[in-house]
Amino acid sequence: MESLRGQVAVVTGGSRGIGLAIARALVAEGVQVAVTGKSAANLSAARPKIEAAGPGAVETLQADVRRYDDVRRAIDAAVSRFGGLDILINNAGIGIFASVSAMTPAQWSDVIDTNLTGVFNACHAALPHLQRRGGGFIINISSLAGKNPFVDGAAYCASKAGLNAFSEALMQEVRYDNIRVSYVLPGSVSTAFSSGEEGKGADWKIAPAEVADVVVNLLRHNPRSLPSRVELRPSKPRK
Ligand SMILES: NC(=O)c1ccc[n+]([C@@H]2O[C@H](COP(=O)([O-])OP(=O)(O)OC[C@H]3O[C@@H](n4cnc5c(N)ncnc54)[C@H](OP(=O)(O)O)[C@@H]3O)[C@@H](O)[C@H]2O)c1
Repeated sequence: MESLRGQVAVVTGGSRGIGLAIARALVAEGVQVAVTGKSAANLSAARPKIEAAGPGAVETLQADVRRYDDVRRAIDAAVSRFGGLDILINNAGIGIFASVSAMTPAQWSDVIDTNLTGVFNACHAALPHLQRRGGGFIINISSLAGKNPFVDGAAYCASKAGLNAFSEALMQEVRYDNIRVSYVLPGSVSTAFSSGEEGKGADWKIAPAEVADVVVNLLRHNPRSLPSRVELRPSKPRK
């Protein structure tokens, strides 16, 4: 098992939900973690929760993944603060669920720009730093919705299907630079994402910490092989 202690990670959308759980799990492993988010208030509230998780250092950076300059500035700031970059977790994402007829063009753009272009932005900004380090790991948080489309999910499902294809293409593109790319497809996770309220009706759902466990296990996996796509589903979904 690889030790993660002393490595440097950026987690996009690390102020709430799954990203917060991933940041906490990494800090518990001794990783130096920079988390990004849109809302400064949510980042301030998250900071002590991440710091309390363990020995790794923490930085919070306000950056909207939809804006390339924001993302680049955040990744460069993490690199100057911690001296390099080893791990990028592309977690920031939104869901807007409506029929194609009812969805506005602005809502469509919001979903695609956050869930798909946002990942391109962060990878584009991070890759030179990972290459300078001689390798690294990119993990994209996708969704089972990317392979199981549903009514009112056209934008969200398309964004995640696109992310799956992006992840596989990038994986092949950078593997000989010692940069590993994996993507995780969770089913329903108990966050405020769709219900608007964390933990609401959550007993059967995946816990955010369980997605974080998958991420840590991927990072610690022997680099001789690569679990490039991981599907994680509730053991007993609501019938
Ligand atoms: N929850 C589920 O059931 C589920 C299932 C499968 C996959 N996923 C995926 O898992 C990821 C995290 O979901 P979650 O349930 O943890 O969501 P969440 O609780 O709503 O948290 C989303 C996080 O992303 C950040 N974010 C949103 N838009 C952003 C942007 N434009 N730039 C930077 N940060 C942004 C939010 O920051 P602010 O606080 O500033 O808004 C927040 O920290 C998403 O990619 C989602 O598609 C979720």
